[in-house]
Amino acid sequence: MTKLLTATDITKSYSGVQALRGASFDLVSGEVHALVGENGAGKSTLVKIITGAVDADGGEIKLNGEPITHNSPRLARSRGVAAIYQQPALFPDLTVTENIALGFDRTSPWSRIDWKRRRRRAAELLSRVGAGFDSEALAGSLSMPRQQLVEIARALGADANILIMDEPTASLSQEETQALFEVIRGLRARGAGVVYISHRLEELTAIADRVTVLRDGRSVATRGVSEINERDLISLMVGRELSTVFPKKEVEFGEVVLELRDLGCSGAAVRSVNLSVRAGEIVGLTGLVGAGRTELATTVFGLTPPDSGEILLRGKPVRITSPIDAIAQGLAYLPEDRRRHGVILDMPLSANITLASLDRLSRSGVLDSRKEREIASEYTARLGIKTPAIFAPVSTLSGGNQQKAALSRWLATKPSVLILDEPTQGVDVGAKSEIHALMSELAGRGAAVLMISSDLPEILGMSDRIAVMRGGTIVATVQRRDASQEEILSLAIGRGAREPQSELGDIGA
Ligand SMILES: Nc1ncnc2c1ncn2[C@@H]1O[C@H](COP(=O)(O)OP(=O)(O)OP(=O)(O)O)[C@@H](O)[C@H]1O
Ligand SMILES: [Mg+2]
Repeated sequence: MTKLLTATDITKSYSGVQALRGASFDLVSGEVHALVGENGAGKSTLVKIITGAVDADGGEIKLNGEPITHNSPRLARSRGVAAIYQQPALFPDLTVTENIALGFDRTSPWSRIDWKRRRRRAAELLSRVGAGFDSEALAGSLSMPRQQLVEIARALGADANILIMDEPTASLSQEETQALFEVIRGLRARGAGVVYISHRLEELTAIADRVTVLRDGRSVATRGVSEINERDLISLMVGRELSTVFPKKEVEFGEVVLELRDLGCSGAAVRSVNLSVRAGEIVGLTGLVGAGRTELATTVFGLTPPDSGEILLRGKPVRITSPIDAIAQGLAYLPEDRRRHGVILDMPLSANITLASLDRLSRSGVLDSRKEREIASEYTARLGIKTPAIFAPVSTLSGGNQQKAALSRWLATKPSVLILDEPTQGVDVGAKSEIHALMSELAGRGAAVLMISSDLPEILGMSDRIAVMRGGTIVATVQRRDASQEEILSLAIGRGAREPQSELGDIGA
């Protein structure tokens, strides 16, 4: 077995924040080595040091046995390293093909680019990762999961023997995840090594050979995946025992708060959606990627305003033509693409958290900064947002901690209708159960919650009712107690035995 990569005792601090305090691991040919750890443990920092994107303060990186003294993206690439970063880093104004082609090796600066060949190769790579969409689309117009598939295709195109994937499946559906795993197995079989970062611990048994746990910037253990169970892994990660039970509380439902009647938005391919959500109820919205879940959310929230049907709030028809209308009506929406729409990177954490609650925080137009700090500190503590200070810019937080900031903002508005798109994507196990507890608490106080999730255990664990979408509409709603993973999946794929149910009949049940 050849050692492809060795990282020894890597340290790194960012203006006072010690991100890595001595992290070591190695990667051999033909293995998938998982890196796990809580949000802010230092995983992405370690990746960036290996790819030459940031400089380490200390420690040693060896690539293919050779120590690297002055790493740089170009050097790492020339030694066979390719990476998929946690935040998709595509050029939004270039097409999918162009983005992928940028990852190909340049033959020489003088040679003409053979676009025909590159297009063919890009199409090949896209089909390898199971992406069935237009490769001439602008990358910026694609949904998060699609952007992620493009990133994966681009990394494969670099023909690397050390492939680093920082949460590649965070926004992928089960089917796409399986397709990616096939690709990874293929790479492993031809002797490449894959560094695999994920918060979905159940994936590790399916795909990883070894796992290294990072805690507070240190590597605390490396084990064979078959030698360790999830529970022990979690306690290594968080340094204590932790239950991952879904804390959904049973609450009395109140009146119907949100009702959608035949709602449609032709621009977003949403058609005749009927759904109602009661006070206290959590409705899980599931379906395959492309089924129209996010589009339904943006339609209700006024980002892509409806052009047919009705939205009723507490029985009264309302007109929502913009997010401003939606917020004024007591709606809150956590978007899926937090990088672009969820946080304002240059602003302090505290401002990000309180941004949507400003009217409650100000008296005659003057911001009550003490109250702002209070709210910011409360959510920072509850969700365990790892930050040096509540006024640190959000850009300096780790990916998962940025997600927590985006979520806090909407939780802090105490909305009457809360729409969450993949609320726990990319957050660690501890924060995940805290987010579930907060959702449950809001529902308990009478909010109507619509939760979009591709995570089936989460859907089954947290929803009172589950609405399954396919082709832009809701094809079935199922009570949680009657639902199984298999049934939901077959409804989502369209091979379900169950006929679409009328919404009214279902609520009475
Ligand atoms: N540019 C930066 N400036 C200041 N601090 C930073 C910067 N980037 C990362 N950090 C800090 O370094 C620590 C490690 O961050 P890193 O992104 O490596 O975590 P991670 O393990 O990838 O977490 P996640 O699971 O949330 O992605 C965090 O405390 C983070 O706030
Ligand atoms: Mg990270």
